[in-house]
Amino acid sequence: MPNGPQKPPAKKHPLQHKRAFQTALVQWFETKGKDYPWRRTTDPWPILVSEIMLQQTQVATVLGKGHYTRFMALYPTPRDMAEAAEQEILKAWEGLGYYRRARNLHAAAKAITRDHRGIFPRKYEEIRALPGIGQYTAGAVASFAYNEAQPIVDANVARVFSRLFDFQERIDTSAGNKQLWKWATELVPAENPRAFNSAIMELGQQQCSNKSPNCTTCPLRRFCHCSEPTTLPIKKSAAKVTRVDEFALFTQDSHGRILLQQVQKGERREGMWSLPRREHAETLDLPLALKTTYAITRYQVTLRVYADSNMPRSTRQHESWHLLDDLESLPMPSPDRRALESILEG
Ligand code: ADE
Repeated sequence: MPNGPQKPPAKKHPLQHKRAFQTALVQWFETKGKDYPWRRTTDPWPILVSEIMLQQTQVATVLGKGHYTRFMALYPTPRDMAEAAEQEILKAWEGLGYYRRARNLHAAAKAITRDHRGIFPRKYEEIRALPGIGQYTAGAVASFAYNEAQPIVDANVARVFSRLFDFQERIDTSAGNKQLWKWATELVPAENPRAFNSAIMELGQQQCSNKSPNCTTCPLRRFCHCSEPTTLPIKKSAAKVTRVDEFALFTQDSHGRILLQQVQKGERREGMWSLPRREHAETLDLPLALKTTYAITRYQVTLRVYADSNMPRSTRQHESWHLLDDLESLPMPSPDRRALESILEG
């Protein structure tokens, strides 16, 4: 027979070749999977802590500055965290942002201590019932800690499935979301679901990335029905970035103490200590000490800090003076911490 142009091999459907699909994925993970501290344990508590940290913070940040290791050394068990003061926990969470997660984790630690005698619950339904734990986190803990065949769908898994099945529907609708969970449920194997779930997430991070998927070396290539990977998944276009201005004071008294404000209940960063915020009009006559920007959710914030040498005769509500030596032990939002350090270093 003449050697004509070769047709690409026919695609296999993941659901019709489940075993081959699962094996290809897990075998890839066994050689290419990253070695993270939370993958070296089957203790559900450190696994839960890692999952909460990784919800809105990248692996590099969680591991890079020792946040995870330090946090686990401070709170090796749910009871250790349950018994800690909120201010101390906020301090331990500093640099990770989205502090609501620390408060939710504290609530979960308290519930485990109170309702389960400090022993992490074994059943999926009990894990799911803990405060702040949704379907993804409960599935992650049950599969990573207990090797239970529970599905997980996070942004990585959603992207991989959308492309594998060439899913031409929006994934941020209840129907789209339901379809993703259905695929995850059908594909998670009874045998070694821990490796399967870690693998599919990792494939999304390493191989099937958002902007530059590497299809030529993908272990799932022969199962993938997608022709234009970068067009998937389909979502409502991202919310526009809103610019916000913040105005704050840097004030030092004759003892060298700094004026700080404790963020009040119901406000973002509740319980933390920040530079005192002011209305723009109150800062008009003051010299600018520092201007910086930071991003939070869909906001791009410009923070201006003014040097205020007019010593206030009395402090406002929720504001107080703090010795330089004590600043380190207070929970402080990262933009404020950086601004303060930069001003003090001159
Ligand atoms: N992102 C969320 N959970 C993760 C995990 N267990 N490993 C790596 N990245 C993750």
